[in-house]
Amino acid sequence: MSLTIGQVLSGARWGYCITEPLTGDGSHAALVYKARVSPGSTTSVNEQDMPEWAVIKCPSPLRAQRDFTRLDLKREWEAYQHPSIANSPYIRKLYDLIGNPEDFDDKTGETRPCLALEWMDMTLQDLTPKLDKRAYKLIVAIIEAVMESILCFSEAKVVDTDTKPGNFLLSNIDTDHPTVKIGDLGLVLPCTHPRTNVQPLPMRAPEVFLGFPCTTKSQVWSCAASLLFWLKPSLLGSSSDDGDGLRGSCIDVLPTPWCLAKLRRLFPAWRDRPVAGDVRRKAEWALSEDHLEELPAPLKRIGCLEEEMGRLGMVRELRGVMGLMLVTDPKERFGPREVLASGEMRALREVVSTGGMDLDEE
Ligand SMILES: Nc1ncnc2c1ncn2[C@@H]1O[C@H](COP(=O)(O)OP(=O)(O)O)[C@@H](O)[C@H]1O
Ligand SMILES: [Mg+2]
Repeated sequence: MSLTIGQVLSGARWGYCITEPLTGDGSHAALVYKARVSPGSTTSVNEQDMPEWAVIKCPSPLRAQRDFTRLDLKREWEAYQHPSIANSPYIRKLYDLIGNPEDFDDKTGETRPCLALEWMDMTLQDLTPKLDKRAYKLIVAIIEAVMESILCFSEAKVVDTDTKPGNFLLSNIDTDHPTVKIGDLGLVLPCTHPRTNVQPLPMRAPEVFLGFPCTTKSQVWSCAASLLFWLKPSLLGSSSDDGDGLRGSCIDVLPTPWCLAKLRRLFPAWRDRPVAGDVRRKAEWALSEDHLEELPAPLKRIGCLEEEMGRLGMVRELRGVMGLMLVTDPKERFGPREVLASGEMRALREVVSTGGMDLDEE
């Protein structure tokens, strides 16, 4: 059963009146709604910082999706039990759990635990890609928010394995101070979690493709890959993730080797190999080699990273920061703190705040 327009949910802090369902990019399985916030029944103190809007997220009522959306919500709720995550200004705030924590494990599907979360205007995925002044301001804010959020996750000894444009929440994008927050903590996993094949394909770090765990540094990669993917979807990921050029051209190929082949075009010096003894990944690597030998047109069109960033018309300062994050060897890749403190990041902040970019449009 889904929620209905006008239905009011009562949380411990506030009330939430459902106003509309949110469809997002269609990739999410949970039910997500916009809701108007009203004072709770408990105290008037809560009204002081009461927001106007909230997002309500609840498990899918569909049998096929019910269990995993419940598990995702449970993980999201658990992530907020870490103070570094709950209190971070770079992560969407949790307002209320409507229901009980035990409801997440209710296999009957009779209870319906919901999370009430902070409202934001849009996601990066909703925004038309264009490298103008506004986008540069946003990109600086995104890099800062993602790096800061990675530090919060790392303090809580977890990794966010779902870094992607659809989970970068944005507000005030037409001002000098856009707000960026990371949303959707459903795939936040303990650092020691054995799960592999994590991260969406276009944003997946090279070491994760090779069968190694997803780490803090893998999230740094995903941040830069998200920006690249937003600007030019055909550069990363499988056919179904592509926004142009490559669609339909790899219908007969498996997604992972195809993604690997694209990465190897972008990073021709990538020399690492899959985890020893991992038969599946070895086979994927070999298939990517076949693609590179045949070099069909869509792959041929992909140049190395520097070339592609040049084609996109990225300013030198942004290319510098991207170059710290998009390093195939995680040992050589900058960590979140290093990116934030780097001379390259300083130069990017500087050029963006003074508006000194040499843009095509001007
Ligand atoms: N705080 C928010 N403000 C505005 N829209 C949101 C917000 N949170 C989510 N959305 C919309 O709902 C979609 C799904 O939300 P998300 O939390 O990412 O759930 P899922 O786990 O299903 O991906 C987002 O991609 C976005 O379009
Ligand atoms: Mg999402």
